[in-house]
Amino acid sequence: MPDHDLAELTDVVHHAGSRRILEVSKLTLARGRHGLLLGPSGSGKTTLLHALAGLLVPDQGSLLLLGNDLRSIGDVGRDRLRADHVGIVFQQLHLIAAVSVADNLRLARRLAGKGPDEQAIMDLLARVGLADRAGTLPADLSQGERQRVAVARALVNQPSLLLADEPTSALDDANCDAVIDLLLEQADLSGVTLLVATHDRRLTARLPVLLELARPVERAA
Ligand SMILES: Nc1ncnc2c1ncn2[C@@H]1O[C@H](COP(=O)(O)OP(=O)(O)O)[C@@H](O)[C@H]1O
Ligand SMILES: [Mg+2]
Repeated sequence: MPDHDLAELTDVVHHAGSRRILEVSKLTLARGRHGLLLGPSGSGKTTLLHALAGLLVPDQGSLLLLGNDLRSIGDVGRDRLRADHVGIVFQQLHLIAAVSVADNLRLARRLAGKGPDEQAIMDLLARVGLADRAGTLPADLSQGERQRVAVARALVNQPSLLLADEPTSALDDANCDAVIDLLLEQADLSGVTLLVATHDRRLTARLPVLLELARPVERAA
């Protein structure tokens, strides 16, 4: 299906209770076109990433991922599609604290129903500069190292789309640049399209804005 856009959203609306928390008339993600989902805190960026990943089904609208209608394929179908095609670097990383760095990657492969691939895991850890940390627990790493584990884990199932949620918000300029360098470099090495959700306007110097969300209060006005 090489001609499919990676993802296409049309007239997507989502609510929390009676409150409208996400509104997107159109978003198209094309293979190889990295970019930003920009918007202030509370504008629905994380909600949209979760919808793209099939972690939630929006109340209204159409959402295609590699030509598959995320609304109609059910939870199992969404889980399968996510396992095969989407890597996520969550804002809170969500590493498994009880197991080593390498086991975090091994578990991600098992959860996706994929066989072990020690070579791929060690290659990825080497690529993000953690070859000598494979046996270390996440708690014994620096925050920057933990983030690199999360990036490696997001790539371990060879996704088509890499989603990163606020990867730079707490960082100074030098570290902000380093994180975007890492994400872009790793996305290109893996042939993955990168979408970064952020309120960090510094990133507009590094990546095109694919969609800008407004605060709900601004939408209502
Ligand atoms: N499960 C939920 N229940 C209630 N409110 C939610 C829920 N998820 C998100 N929200 C609210 O929806 C709005 C958008 O949230 P979010 O997608 O996290 O925005 P962003 O990532 O841009 O900061 C926020 O006001 C948030 O508090
Ligand atoms: Mg968010």
